[in-house]
Amino acid sequence: MRPDAKKVVGIVASPRHGANTGILVQKVLEGASSRGLPTQLHYLSDLGVAPCDACDACMSTGQCVVDDGMQVLHALFPETRVLVLGTPIYFDHVSAQLKAFLDRLYLYTGPNPDYRFPGGVKAVLVATWEDSNPARYDDVIAWLQGRLSHYFGIETVAIIKASHTGSRPVGQQPELLQRAFAAGAALQER
Ligand SMILES: Cc1cc2nc3c(=O)[nH]c(=O)nc-3n(C[C@H](O)[C@H](O)[C@H](O)COP(=O)(O)O)c2cc1C
Repeated sequence: MRPDAKKVVGIVASPRHGANTGILVQKVLEGASSRGLPTQLHYLSDLGVAPCDACDACMSTGQCVVDDGMQVLHALFPETRVLVLGTPIYFDHVSAQLKAFLDRLYLYTGPNPDYRFPGGVKAVLVATWEDSNPARYDDVIAWLQGRLSHYFGIETVAIIKASHTGSRPVGQQPELLQRAFAAGAALQER
């Protein structure tokens, strides 16, 4: 563990503030905070994270030339212990906001070993969707978990899922909220 890496950073890839995905990410952060871990919450739509330009400059410099809110997150990663990544399901996959975020991590995948994502970062994944089948998007979650591990060495330590959010908004599911809180509290041991 990097001694300066203490923060639990929530990243919400729904543009809807305080909706299903945001509530669950926030609950995980509240759990972490209850154990004394510092937390921060960001909505990708507020940061205006644009898609990757594919200019390839980062492959030789380790820096992204796109000057937007993603730079805030790049600066945070060295202090990050856990990423809490939340996405709604849009057309059977992660939201465009989350995909843009992932693409903008491209700079950590180049040939220069000096430009790697900071080591030892863990992830909690949050996914919400309308379909009533609670296992419907397990493949999408597994895809995300696999990409984080393969490209960035990020180990997923907890997954929080919410289906049928139209009829059962997460704010009305105390047991689910408690599970998200408990996942955050458990991060102290990570
Ligand atoms: C553009 C769009 C596409 C969606 N596609 C799906 C889908 O393929 N499957 C599904 O179950 N729900 C789908 N939904 C519903 C959302 O995943 C669901 O409402 C989710 O909980 C929204 O998260 P939020 O409340 O945090 O914004 C879609 C919603 C939108 C706006």
